[in-house]
Amino acid sequence: MALRITVIGTGYLGATHAAAMAELGFEVLGLDVVPEKIAMLSAGRVPMYEPGLEELLSRHVAGLDGASGRLRFTTSWEEVADFGDVHFVCVNTPQKHGEYACDMSYVDAAFSSLAPLLTRPALVVGKSTVPVGSADRLAKLLAEQAPGEVELAWNPEFLREGFAVNDTLHPDRIVVGVGSERAEKLLREVYATPIAEGSPLVVTDFPTAELVKTSANSFLATKISFINAMAEVCEAAGGDVVKLAEAIGHDERIGSKFLRAGIGFGGGCLPKDIRAFMARAGELGADQALTFLREVDSINMRRRGHMVELAREAVGGGSFLGKRVAVLGAAFKPDSDDVRDSPALNVAGQIHLQGGQVTVYDPKGMANARLLFPTLGYADTALEAVRGADVVLHLTEWREFRELDPAELGSVTTSRILLDGRNALDPVKWREAGWVYRAMGRPTA
Ligand code: UDX
Repeated sequence: MALRITVIGTGYLGATHAAAMAELGFEVLGLDVVPEKIAMLSAGRVPMYEPGLEELLSRHVAGLDGASGRLRFTTSWEEVADFGDVHFVCVNTPQKHGEYACDMSYVDAAFSSLAPLLTRPALVVGKSTVPVGSADRLAKLLAEQAPGEVELAWNPEFLREGFAVNDTLHPDRIVVGVGSERAEKLLREVYATPIAEGSPLVVTDFPTAELVKTSANSFLATKISFINAMAEVCEAAGGDVVKLAEAIGHDERIGSKFLRAGIGFGGGCLPKDIRAFMARAGELGADQALTFLREVDSINMRRRGHMVELAREAVGGGSFLGKRVAVLGAAFKPDSDDVRDSPALNVAGQIHLQGGQVTVYDPKGMANARLLFPTLGYADTALEAVRGADVVLHLTEWREFRELDPAELGSVTTSRILLDGRNALDPVKWREAGWVYRAMGRPTA
């Protein structure tokens, strides 16, 4: 009989994983503790903006017209425990409030709720990003609390928001941390589908699997901070970081990806993952190995402050009081409505706190931005945000912003100063339309 799969936690990771597993032909039951989310998903709707996910989900949710019916959702732990042969735990591991460490409370709650109910043989597979050593601890918890024959595996997930569907169905690699041949065999069965075609499957122990995820994210964060450090040097020396990135990126050992200088990285993963990694290394007595990540973090945070200073310069160099600042972008990156630790909103918030009159526009992130920063001004279009602005900040590189007409925008503002915090707009096009265009780590004209 085909394996039956459950997915615990239906955020970006869980919702995508559940839909992808149904797409691959498995019977899938998704669980979340938030009933509103379950109601939405059961109606084929996704509680966040993720291109292609709603279409994928709707193809499978039971009860929807024309759907395969292989995907259902519930809030019942009993139902999940009865149903599943393989349980994927996909809950969130945010940063602890006021600390660097990772908040494991959702993972711990999921394991504690599920374990005592597991009376039939099952494999529990952790997908959440956790501090190294968690899997060993959770394996012991399962051994102590699960009545049935239950094992653990760790299978980190590398999906990017905005590309979640493609990254899940066509991953660069699959990493499975296992404690037994049986667990490996089961996971190979799960991934012995089109998902694994062309994707290398790397089998490891628990700690290595956990570390693969945190080290991959640390490497990516380091790459971004490296190019942002070069942007600082370029600005001091009169160089152009965009050309520099292009040139070094031609070296295959370096590669051209993740070398976009700007206001730095944000989101629900990279910033908190490097901090949690440092905190965990400290607990293990290996903190020296990761002191460079402290620098990666501070270069990154400096980018936000630098953008605030460029904006201050643009409005006359003194206070922001009485100055109108248009902010294009609120999401932490394009093709997402996620505003968690968004560099764009952080810059907007800093200017607002310093007395600036800030108006934000984002194609998809407005609702989430309003919830997080209710006191900022918001506009329904880029044109409205820019109207009467003393300076325009481009902080999230949506395609919509690249397609803006500089002449049209220029007609609603007198001061035509554009600061491109993502080095993503065409300097020639904006300058030709009479704008002062300034970017990060690039010559001013
Ligand atoms: C990241 C990892 O890429 C993914 O593998 C992991 O599973 C989760 O964390 P995500 O947070 O969705 O994914 O976004 P990503 O595309 O990595 O971008 C992160 C941040 O870096 C964004 O704020 C983005 O704007 C910024 N970034 C990215 C840069 O500033 N420059 C770059 O060159 C690339």
